[in-house]
Amino acid sequence: MSSKDWEIHNHSGSKRVIVTKELPGTLWRRRLTQAGCKIEVCISEDVLTVADIKAAIGTHCDAALGQLTEAWGDELFAALKAAGGTAYSNVAVGYNNVDVEAATKHGIPVGNTPGVLTETTAQMAVALTFAAARRTGEAERFLRAGKFKGWLMTLFLGELLWRKTVGIVGAGRIGAAYARMMVEGHKMNLIYHDLYPNQDLENYIAAYAEFLKSQGEAPVYCKRAESLEEVLQQADCISIHTVLDDSTHHLINQENLALMKENAILVNTSRGPVVDEAALVAHCQSHPNFRAGLDVFEDEPAMKPGLVDLENVVIVPHIASATRWTREGMATLAAGNVVGLLLGYPAWNQPDILPFLAEETPKAAPSIINAKELGIPLFAG
Ligand code: DGY
Repeated sequence: MSSKDWEIHNHSGSKRVIVTKELPGTLWRRRLTQAGCKIEVCISEDVLTVADIKAAIGTHCDAALGQLTEAWGDELFAALKAAGGTAYSNVAVGYNNVDVEAATKHGIPVGNTPGVLTETTAQMAVALTFAAARRTGEAERFLRAGKFKGWLMTLFLGELLWRKTVGIVGAGRIGAAYARMMVEGHKMNLIYHDLYPNQDLENYIAAYAEFLKSQGEAPVYCKRAESLEEVLQQADCISIHTVLDDSTHHLINQENLALMKENAILVNTSRGPVVDEAALVAHCQSHPNFRAGLDVFEDEPAMKPGLVDLENVVIVPHIASATRWTREGMATLAAGNVVGLLLGYPAWNQPDILPFLAEETPKAAPSIINAKELGIPLFAG
């Protein structure tokens, strides 16, 4: 990285904050500026290495906003601490790239950006589900190649996802939003697997089932499965919404791909390594009616050999949260985390994070993962 890869805003700010990638919108920058920060933004699109980031931290750095493509572990938190840093925020809701334990050890609070990705990411999971079910990638390639000779009864027959069963693995915010879109939009039954029941989701679907009955229609049902296997066996399309940790690495492997229906659809917008991608490639090669929709990849940005050649897989480059509102919201929340910490505010503890997107925000840091471990007080209202 050379100095020309970095852009400086608010030169006169007294607190130095590094931002490892250009962020959309302007509110995030305003927040940092109003808090008296000098902001140094890396405008290169290259993924920064630990060495690049360490060099950027230098000998004096108050806080950093980092990306999910960077390994924020012991080395970087030690460097940040040594440079006088007191705050870090991932510009992402997921933080599998952050060693939170190491950050806590060095006394650095770690923020993330929940609550603004939910509907956006769920919508991409829905888009991938239907792109896979209705074969839009294949059909578009066919059309663009000039192969369309006229309407044909047999052209690109896909799967109708209506009154069938949708499965989700992980019924947190995004998984539940996807489930509601699929159940309500397409009158599907839901089967889900999660360590914890999602009572709100179950109640919502029960109420929707009552509504359908009141209209003289067959109800839908929602079932929490005892096992992942049950979901894989019963669902017509399955969307993955788990976090990535040791327990979910290769959760979807050769063995349980084989449990899925021959014409099932698998969607992943969570993290690539949750799916054994080589096993998925082999499964899709030997099961042409099976389909997958992927936003994330095991060795991102690389793909396992053969994946790119598969007609029965729809792929997009990790853009599930890429709507302007969401990405600007993520940037604003990440800046809010750092500002809140630099100003010594407590950590927000309410479910609604949207007040942090307004001009006037609560005096709190929106989402600090290790607040409890570091003894950061909670917002009292
Ligand atoms: C996140 O925030 O974790 C997402 O993967 C970014 O799209």
